[in-house]
Amino acid sequence: MCGIVGYLGKNQASSILVDGLSKLEYRGYDSAGVAILNDEGLMNVTKCKGRLANLEEKLKENPIHGTVGIGHTRWATHGEPSDVNSHPHTNEKGTIAVVHNGIIENYMKLREWLTSEGYTFKSETDTEVIPHLVDYFYNGDIVEAVMKAVTKMEGSYAIGVVSTYEPGKLVAVRKDSPLIVGLGKDEYFIASDIPAVLNHTRDVYLLEDKEFVVIDEKGVTLLDTVGREINKDVFHVTWDANAAEKGGYEHFMLKEIHEQPKAIRDTMTSRIVKNEKIKLDDITITQEQIKNIDKIYIVACGTAYHAGVIGKYAIEKLARIPVEVEVASEFRYRNPIINEKTLMIVVSQSGETADTLAALREAKRQKARVIAVTNVVGSSISREADDVLYTWAGPEIAVASTKAYVTQLIAMYIIALFFAENKGTLSNEEIEEIKEEMLLLPEKAEKVLETKVVVEKFAANNYMHRDMFFLGRGLDYAVAMEGSLKLKEISYIHSEAYAAGELKHGPIALIEDGTVVIALATQEVLFEKMVSNIKEVKTRGANVLAFAMEGHNEIEKTVDVARYIPRTLEVLAPVLSVIPLQLLSYYTAIAKGCDVDKPRNLAKSVTVE
Ligand code: G6P
Repeated sequence: MCGIVGYLGKNQASSILVDGLSKLEYRGYDSAGVAILNDEGLMNVTKCKGRLANLEEKLKENPIHGTVGIGHTRWATHGEPSDVNSHPHTNEKGTIAVVHNGIIENYMKLREWLTSEGYTFKSETDTEVIPHLVDYFYNGDIVEAVMKAVTKMEGSYAIGVVSTYEPGKLVAVRKDSPLIVGLGKDEYFIASDIPAVLNHTRDVYLLEDKEFVVIDEKGVTLLDTVGREINKDVFHVTWDANAAEKGGYEHFMLKEIHEQPKAIRDTMTSRIVKNEKIKLDDITITQEQIKNIDKIYIVACGTAYHAGVIGKYAIEKLARIPVEVEVASEFRYRNPIINEKTLMIVVSQSGETADTLAALREAKRQKARVIAVTNVVGSSISREADDVLYTWAGPEIAVASTKAYVTQLIAMYIIALFFAENKGTLSNEEIEEIKEEMLLLPEKAEKVLETKVVVEKFAANNYMHRDMFFLGRGLDYAVAMEGSLKLKEISYIHSEAYAAGELKHGPIALIEDGTVVIALATQEVLFEKMVSNIKEVKTRGANVLAFAMEGHNEIEKTVDVARYIPRTLEVLAPVLSVIPLQLLSYYTAIAKGCDVDKPRNLAKSVTVE
């Protein structure tokens, strides 16, 4: 998400910033901008919605001469993509400019406070609080002002600051958002990622949280939070630019699988807080309207549809409202029964899928209320829905969806809890227990990523099969569907997901010696029944890889390979159990030599029927 570049040196900043930003395009963005201190030490900001080419065009029309500046590509989270919401943001006097990557969690409170102090805001962004905060604390020393501003900020940030007060200085700091410093010859850079500086230098500092960077013509000084100087080793980059874009991972898909703990955490940010009611900024549905809902349709396509299946289980279990889940291309043509008591939840990573958008329009035409769950701020679906719950997965580049899916699951749980809270279907204690377990999911997801070695080995031994089966009961069945889709999408192996209890009604005829079966047994109450189903395929010769919750080691007696996911509430288990299935499809595709990030015949966003 978002890209930051900063420059201080002897050359013209404008073209260096734009070139650096172009190397960060892979991160995804919807607008771009630069702030450059011109030769007279005055601030010039040029920014606009859309591609970098638009910014370049503007800079060609009105060139800015100056050798100190900051640049940004924005991936919208707070406020739609627009010229005014683009970065850099400035204080009212235009003397301090800031670029920011991350989310300032307490920005609403800061905005209220700064407004009461007489500051006015132009944009809808969380970022705009930062230049005002720096302005508030500025008392003759820009570094000190940035340090004081940071003490007020909660959440994640990488920021770059320039000011007319000290035009020969660039200040930066990071917390939970990446930032590096590039060390050239008489020129210095900051950037969200290494590719942005590789045209100029291979020597960088990799910053840790809360390390402040002060760049002036003499060089780079690193400071801790109380202003003491820090010494840091220079990291010499030996990789090529392509590998660097993928953060050292071989493919975007693998990188995105590893980004899931962060994506889960970000999506819960400021919404799931212990002992506080669930806060959903962009959802205006009232308690009365929630109590009035007599039916929910969850409508989506592909992976998003599978997230919807989990949503059905979660909403029915926690909020006791009947839910139907349907693929959008079917829903829109079957004359569904919809009225003003119907709620539709559309789920779409891109927010642009044609069938999902058409289903949304049909529901609205028939007076249903629509909540959108999407990853793209300002997308068509987000604009046309009544309410939006954004998944904060960051841009997903690989065609096969992974981190967007897990954040869609988190969104489903948040909606289910929000409804349960409003309808009183769960006690406060029950809600708190679920929230507490949700907050532990990021670190448990990290742990699941460690199963990678076993899964990779299983893939290496089984990639040559023509068919595979995925079995599960309850929520495990829903996850099995997603695992099966992932395998088809990127390794081109035919696979079927079956509700394990249904197996004996037909598909068991296909099981023979060596058939690969992936079995999910994470649901406690269904565990024994699932083991019986696994025995049914084992006795017919299947080669079974099973996943269960920690503590169910007895499964090893029944299956060929067993792995465990950390204990969590059953309803939350899909967030963890899908991860080894994503890894399985990834490593199977690698073993087969497939183009993982761009599988044949598939598109990331399907904007045609
Ligand atoms: C395409 C993609 C899938 C995705 C589906 C829905 O088929 O290849 O990965 O799940 O569209 O996309 P959406 O953006 O609506 O979630």
